[in-house]
Amino acid sequence: MKITRFSRIGFILAAAGSAVGLGNIWKFPYITGEYGGGAFVLVYLLTVLLIGFSIMLAEMLIGYLGRKDTVTSFEELAPKHKSLWKFGGFQGIAGLLIMVFYSVVIGWIFNYIVTSLTSLPSSVKEAEETFNLMLHTGFYTQFFYHTIAFLVVTYVLHKGIKGGIEKINLILMPALIIILSVMFIYAMTLDSFSRSLEFMFAPDWSKLSSEAFVTAVGHAFFTLSLGMGAIMTYAASMEKGTNIVKAAFWVVFLDTAIAIVAGLMLFTFLYQYGSGPAKGPGLVFISLPAAFYEMGVLGNIFAVLFFVALAFAGLTSAVSLVEPMVQYFIDRFSWSRLKASVMMGGFFWLVGIITILSGLDGAKEFLTWGGKNFFDWVDYITAAIMLPLGGLIMAVFVGFIMPKSQVEATMQPFLGWAFAPWYFSLRYITPVAMFIVMLNLMGIF
Ligand code: PFF
Repeated sequence: MKITRFSRIGFILAAAGSAVGLGNIWKFPYITGEYGGGAFVLVYLLTVLLIGFSIMLAEMLIGYLGRKDTVTSFEELAPKHKSLWKFGGFQGIAGLLIMVFYSVVIGWIFNYIVTSLTSLPSSVKEAEETFNLMLHTGFYTQFFYHTIAFLVVTYVLHKGIKGGIEKINLILMPALIIILSVMFIYAMTLDSFSRSLEFMFAPDWSKLSSEAFVTAVGHAFFTLSLGMGAIMTYAASMEKGTNIVKAAFWVVFLDTAIAIVAGLMLFTFLYQYGSGPAKGPGLVFISLPAAFYEMGVLGNIFAVLFFVALAFAGLTSAVSLVEPMVQYFIDRFSWSRLKASVMMGGFFWLVGIITILSGLDGAKEFLTWGGKNFFDWVDYITAAIMLPLGGLIMAVFVGFIMPKSQVEATMQPFLGWAFAPWYFSLRYITPVAMFIVMLNLMGIF
């Protein structure tokens, strides 16, 4: 089998492409709105710096030294109890499960690109009706666009690391950055920009509930693609000698910068043309299109550009959500890349249909348990349980299981004096924080 590796810039863009996704442009602004702005943003930023960056380094290290799929990497790097530790690598399953709804949401975005070309809703009420119509009755529309998302992702995966994953990121990431920059510069010229700045950065501590705190921590994980082996799998194809710390820095920097830029821009538009920071997942599908309508023709152009950027961000993340399991079947079962890509793609495509049904009138009643529908459950189980658990396993593995000498030999040259604080954070700060997050998200306190 031909081994292909990322170029250095290819690796950084691919890992950043994984991190920058729907989490940054769709989820971050709406949860910031929901939890009241400034204080929430500060907790999120601190988590990214203190915990996210540490785990990113740990994930990259395991991949870089293991050089195989996640299961094999854990197995080979564990000094003993190999057959137990290999289960640490099964976090890749979380990615496939996330795809079960991620692909459907990318489908909604495709649909919004097409409809924004010709028309925008003239009020929030109309926008809400349009969105709900798609959700509650638009089976074929959702199915069609979900299928397109499946085809694109599967095609890219089957082309492999260099010809598929690196290529799509080399094209889509710069395009995404250009589109967002143009729109952001426009937003900066508007009066409401300062209000948006204030909303995002002036902390009002009274708004920081324990739920907001935990959501901020959980989101830092999701947005950086941590805890499920995506970054680890990419790192296994890093060129030898790549500076891990530099690469991790760029990924964290780009991810954070794009979330902040997207948030500032969207809130500016919503203050200027809409109803202020809207709450809830409908922000980009309901409040935003109505705000774009108020901008006139420019609004149409911006709407299309915005949804194109969102689709790009989603696709580059989607590919990384599936790649760990593709790599697993290639390495462990000697499947061809084509077979592995089609089988994994087929899985999220099929189960994704249940996600669509779970919002549909006439079907959703059968797909709702305990107040959450299938979509919500998959989101909850992956984000609340699987990713923090994955992060915890990685921190413990690098902090306690791998011989310190091995970790030090690889990381010391890159980290210098920062090695000791990083190692301390992995061993103590991260596990405690992850444990608290998990307990809280599971409703235990
Ligand atoms: N980081 C992506 C986002 O912010 O949308 C989502 C994601 C991708 C999570 C890959 C986890 C992952 F492994």
